[in-house]
Amino acid sequence: MSSLAPLRVGVVGLGHWGPNLARNFDRLPEADLTWICDASEEARDRSAVSFPEARVSGELDELLADPELDAVVIATPVPTHAGLAGQVIAAGKHCFVEKPLAQSALEAEAVVTAARDAGLVLMVGHLLEYHPGIVRLKELADSGELGEIHYIYGNRLNLGKLRAEENALWSLGAHDVSVLLGLAGEEPTDCTAMGESYMREGVEDVVFCYLRFPSGLAAHLHLSWLDPHKERRFTVVGSRKMATFDDMEVERKLTVYDKGFDEDFSSYGEYIARSGDSWSPRVPNDEPLLLECGHFVGCVLDGAIPRSDGESGLRVVRVLEDLQRSLDRGRSAQAV
Ligand SMILES: NC(=O)c1ccc[n+]([C@@H]2O[C@H](COP(=O)([O-])OP(=O)(O)OC[C@H]3O[C@@H](n4cnc5c(N)ncnc54)[C@H](O)[C@@H]3O)[C@@H](O)[C@H]2O)c1
Repeated sequence: MSSLAPLRVGVVGLGHWGPNLARNFDRLPEADLTWICDASEEARDRSAVSFPEARVSGELDELLADPELDAVVIATPVPTHAGLAGQVIAAGKHCFVEKPLAQSALEAEAVVTAARDAGLVLMVGHLLEYHPGIVRLKELADSGELGEIHYIYGNRLNLGKLRAEENALWSLGAHDVSVLLGLAGEEPTDCTAMGESYMREGVEDVVFCYLRFPSGLAAHLHLSWLDPHKERRFTVVGSRKMATFDDMEVERKLTVYDKGFDEDFSSYGEYIARSGDSWSPRVPNDEPLLLECGHFVGCVLDGAIPRSDGESGLRVVRVLEDLQRSLDRGRSAQAV
């Protein structure tokens, strides 16, 4: 990272998640948390105690009018992301926006184009891409150790926060889709989803997704905030080996299995199951959110392109939009 003056950062949205971002930017020696902002007085008062050195506002415009402020972090509800990110970029500030970048590819494209034209850093908070376990899993997959990846499935389940403005697909699935696209290195050609709304009409609590990629890779995602289990797991099945990333595990977040089928050379066309060793590569215990915030600051100070830049955020939104279309088709078919 360069030795320039600290990056002056403001955080907008101090509900459940924003204070975590504020805390991590505040911890970084390369950044100064100079503003915190929320439309709700209660949220402002709560965070003002935690960040006494930051100026407090209820209006994004007040932050944007500060010529000393370099970057704005947006942690407001999803429907506001694209609009607020557009305002931040129009004001000439670098922007970190929580996932997903927008609610439609059209909105996401507008933000990406604006950032590119203005020469500003746009980064989307796809936190899992900064998780040392996911980084290691991707290294394993890219190295060819797992062989050709046949299929991937993800479980993101919990008795979690019931949201009114976005369904489980947009709230939980944004994480999994970003990891999936990173592992696949390609975009899916088929996206199918089915889901059900039990708690609030029209807001799916549970969603099952099936995606197919041009290489033949397939993926399944089970997303739910209405579940007795807390699971945050990916399983990758390759032609040579298999691997799981399990974020609920404390020590063994990543496990590699030497399992598969080998051709039986003594009998043409027959296969023998191979169930060899399993082992857990070491995964550094660094906090993903601190790594993510540090990455954003480093990219702005060094003029680098973030791992989860606007373009990659746009690819995630495209997939979420395709899955949502499929969900909607299922809904209207049910209504007939
Ligand atoms: N990366 C992660 O793991 C992760 C985890 C949780 C939430 N998130 C993301 O963080 C964002 C916020 O989620 P949350 O759970 O904190 O929501 P929340 O509803 O608890 O908080 C949102 C806050 O934004 C404020 N707000 C809304 N519009 C505003 C505006 N125009 N100006 C200023 N303040 C405004 C609200 O008053 C509220 O306090 C969402 O985009 C969500 O997807 C990310």
